Amino acid sequence: MLVHITKDFEELSREAARVVANAIRKKHDLRLGLATGSTQLGLYQELVRMHRQERLDLSQVVTFNLDEYIGLASGHPQSFRSVMFRDFFDHINIPRENIHIPDGAPRSGYEQYCEEYEEEIRSAGGIDLQVLGLGKDGHIGFNEPTSSLASRTRPKTLTRQTVEDNRRFFGAKEEPPHAAITMGIGTILEARRVLLLASGAAKARAVALAVEGPVTASVSASALQMHRNATALVDREAAADLLHREYYERALEMTRKLTPGRLW
Ligand code: F6R
Repeated sequence: MLVHITKDFEELSREAARVVANAIRKKHDLRLGLATGSTQLGLYQELVRMHRQERLDLSQVVTFNLDEYIGLASGHPQSFRSVMFRDFFDHINIPRENIHIPDGAPRSGYEQYCEEYEEEIRSAGGIDLQVLGLGKDGHIGFNEPTSSLASRTRPKTLTRQTVEDNRRFFGAKEEPPHAAITMGIGTILEARRVLLLASGAAKARAVALAVEGPVTASVSASALQMHRNATALVDREAAADLLHREYYERALEMTRKLTPGRLW
């Protein structure tokens, strides 16, 4: 996995936006996989700024979100659908019909619906670039520890750690959801390129396990080591537990020189 360490969250967000924007400029109808969570907010703000100030055109981009909570009333302000529109889609020129976010309460039932979501991704030609966040327990999407590394889109129970981490988004009297629909690790690994974002000291252990630990179902993000074009973009605090930092800097430098296309 290519590792790119930035000074702080601001630099990480700018760099992530640069990767996404370059991909869109190269392929106007980019199939873009998106995540939610605090780490993504800087990326979305920067893309909105680029849309407004640098005429970044997203009119042909097609998006697929990784996941959605199960058990929230439709239109709940913390559903990923609401969050995505509020923080991103309402501020750019992407047509509504190009946006795909899993439905947390599908009428057709979960099994059929999850197959349909996979089929939508396939019939769109697959995901060109998948952006990911990282859970403290190493999850990507909501693929919690012991998720099959070959898993597909399905409902998933959230760990206590994840439920507690998400509590900050909900009112004091409201219980956060305990389940979600999420793309599987197998689904994510089929994306042509993957960009994993992590910021802050609370993610340092998960970053080290994902990048340098063994490939294991105990740390879902470690499956990205099997992807041939995955980049971990992490800030200094999140990189604190990595052993080979000096090597990553040199490897990134060499990639910039010899195969800049890999970085877009
Ligand atoms: C949500 C998702 C999750 C988050 C992860 C990190 O769509 O995919 O994997 O990215 O839980 O969340 P934050 O950024 O809030 O720490």
